[in-house]
Formats: sequence, structure tokens, C-alpha cells
Amino acid sequence: MSSATISKEVAEAVYSRGLEGIIAGETSICSVEQGGLLYRGYEIHDLAANATFEEVAFVLLEGAKPDARQLARFKQELVAERALPASILQFLKDVGPALKAGTAVPMDVCRTAVSLLGHIDPDCQDNSAAANLRKAKRLLAKMPAIIGHMQNVIDGKPFVRPETGGDPTLSHAANLLYLMTGQKPVEEYARCVDVSLILYAEHDFNASTFTSRVIAGTLSDMHGAVCGGIAALKGPLHGGANEAAMEMLKRIDAWVAKGGTVEGYMDNAFATKEKLMGFGHRVYKNGDHRAPILGALGREIARKQGPNSLKWFDMGDKVQKIMLEKKNIHPNVDFPCGMTYFVMGIPVPQYTPIFVASRVSGWCAHVMEQHANNRIIRPLSKYTGAPLRPWKG
Ligand SMILES: CC(C)(COP(=O)(O)OP(=O)(O)OC[C@H]1O[C@@H](n2cnc3c(N)ncnc32)[C@H](O)[C@@H]1OP(=O)(O)O)[C@@H](O)C(=O)NCCC(=O)NCCS
Repeated sequence: MSSATISKEVAEAVYSRGLEGIIAGETSICSVEQGGLLYRGYEIHDLAANATFEEVAFVLLEGAKPDARQLARFKQELVAERALPASILQFLKDVGPALKAGTAVPMDVCRTAVSLLGHIDPDCQDNSAAANLRKAKRLLAKMPAIIGHMQNVIDGKPFVRPETGGDPTLSHAANLLYLMTGQKPVEEYARCVDVSLILYAEHDFNASTFTSRVIAGTLSDMHGAVCGGIAALKGPLHGGANEAAMEMLKRIDAWVAKGGTVEGYMDNAFATKEKLMGFGHRVYKNGDHRAPILGALGREIARKQGPNSLKWFDMGDKVQKIMLEKKNIHPNVDFPCGMTYFVMGIPVPQYTPIFVASRVSGWCAHVMEQHANNRIIRPLSKYTGAPLRPWKG
């Protein structure tokens, strides 16, 4: 067995750092290309203009566009699954002090809540297609209540309608905002969040979805795969970028308040190799299809609110212009998302959890696809360690 020579298989294998440019599997769920973003054949501008998040989630999970009866049934199923079990409500109360102290962060709380839900889900260990679909709907339905009730705890307020997980008459997006605040959102805000959920729902083999597929590929369960997806999404190079982008704009604002300029901040960032959050993408080198869609909605909300809100979008435009001129790097969807959620008054640490409330639909669709046609995902590595050496002597 022991040999100092590299096998022919490894020597001839293609190596690509960060798996760039590697096709790591097949999917019929989504196509991500510079030329277009498609969910099961439907183009993202078309979906953002004409569909609701619930319709998109149905397309992803059930595979086809719903007719009126199917959509009504799907919405009913989600509403029926919204309320959180008592043990999860208790966990959210218990983690409150750690959230307030900052040792716990909302993304980790989402991850733990999903893990706990697995313990009491009757289908948890069943990977059949029917059980997976039931679990997917439960997880999708419950994410807004996890986020909303967590925010209630942070704000020191009672849970908003925990017995029903919110208001059964509200959409997934509107109910999410309602659960977080206790106030029913105006139509424009609800639709804006709805569109953001449509844009965030799915993106083929991105880091979190790939993580979920790797977990599912060992024939592990959906709750575990979604926990892994949440952990991967949290990072600022992935979903955490929507929070990081807004924090960066706040730093630029503080820099300008002290007499600096946006250009000066950017030059300093380039000189110190600071990454500009909400910019760049592994696949989209000429722009992210989703960014202008959300940017336009957010800017319109800011315009109606007045100069104090609009200033973020004006500053964002400057940052974008400089990034394009000096680095030829375009914004991704997380850049306008940060500003858009900010002007709607959503607390920054909940931006990535809101991403989860959408992307859970994509993760679950991929878990089902992986389980339906599984081969374990097990690449090679390029060994860079010590050469063969004896243990004794
Ligand atoms: C998304 C991201 C991780 C993609 O990484 P990647 O595919 O490895 O990036 P690339 O290979 O295209 O990077 C090419 C060059 O541009 C630079 N670059 C890419 N994104 C940058 C950014 N946001 N700020 C500054 N420089 C950036 C890289 O450092 C690299 O420079 P180098 O050649 O001098 O090392 C990366 O662009 C990034 O970190 N962006 C910020 C985080 C973010 O917004 N994530 C959300 C993605 S949807």
C-alpha cells in the first residue's frame, strides 16, 4: 500500500483552485450564466416582475409552475406549518442573553433552530422523495417565525402571534416583516422583500448549496444538509456579504463625516487589499443579473423617504463607479440588498437570515435532486505535505 510515488490517477487529474471552472455535477433546477439566470427555465427578470416568492418556491420544490389550485394548496400547507414548537420558542428565549451579548449571532441561531427542529420532525431520518418534500415545506414555512421570534427576543418584546407563526392572511415575505416588528408592512415593502426572496431563492452550485449537496450525497438527512447550508451561507464571502456591504457603507459614511471622501476610502481599501463587500462574483464577471432589479426597488423606496435614505444609494453609486473604473469589478446582489433592507429599517444582523428564509427552498430542491440520483461527492486533493518518511528512527 505505502508508496512514495503519486498515482497516475492523481497525476493526471485536473486541479483548479477553489474548484473554479469545474463542473461538479448535474442539475435541472437552475442555470447560472453571464448570459442569464434561469430557475427551471424561467428567467429571473420575468420571475421578479411577474411571480411571487411562493410561486417560485413551488417551481423549485415541485418542479413546475403551479396552477391556481396547486398554488392555493401549497400556500395553505405553508401557513399550516408556520408555528414553531414550544421547544424552539423556549430555545429562542434561552439564547436571548447570548444574542444580546453578541456571543450568539442570528445566523448561528437559525442553524441551531433547524438542527433542533430535526429532532422532533417525524420524517427526519426518512430520505424518501415524499418525506423530503414534507420536510422542505416545514423548514421553508418555519424560517420566518425563527427569524421574527428571534428578533422579538432581541427587542425584549413578546413573540408576535406564536400560536400561528404570524398572520395566516399574509404572504411569506409580508409575514416575515410582520413577525419581526408586530406591524403589518405596507404593500411596497412587502413586495420589495418578496422580490428579494425571489432573487435569493436559488443559484446552482454556490458554496452553501454545494455544501448541502455534499452532505446529502452521503445519504445524510435534509435537516443536516440545511444546517450545513446555513453555516456556509453565513460567511462574508457568500451570503454574509449583504450585512458586510451595509457595514462597509456605514464605515464610508463615517469616513466622509470626518472630512474624507468616498474616493479616499476606496483608494485606502485598494492599498490595504481590503475586500469591497458586495462586489465580485465567481461566475458573473460582467455583472450580476439580480443586482439592478433589487437596486431599482430599494432606490425607489429611499427616494420616497427623502434625502437621509437616498444618500446611501448615492454613496453606493459612487462606490460602484469607482470599483468599475479602477478594478473592473461589478456589484453582486448583496450590495443593493444591504442598502434596500437598511432603508426599510430591518436590523442588519437579520439580512443573512432573511436570505436563509428564501434559499432554504433552493437547498431543499438540491437535497431532493441529490437523493434522487445519488453518487457520493468525493474529489481528490493535491498533496503538498512532507514526503514519505519513516516513523521509527
Ligand atoms: C465573490 C468572491 C468571493 C469571488 O471570488 P473569486 O472568484 O475568487 O474572485 P476572482 O478570482 O474573480 O478575483 C479576481 C481579483 O479580483 C479581486 N477581487 C474580487 N472581488 C473583490 C472585491 N470584492 N474587492 C476587492 N477585490 C476583489 C480579487 O482579490 C482578485 O485579485 P488578485 O488577482 O489581485 O488576487 C469575491 O469577489 C469576493 O470576495 N467578493 C466580496 C464578498 C462578496 O460580495 N460576496 C458575495 C458573492 S455573491
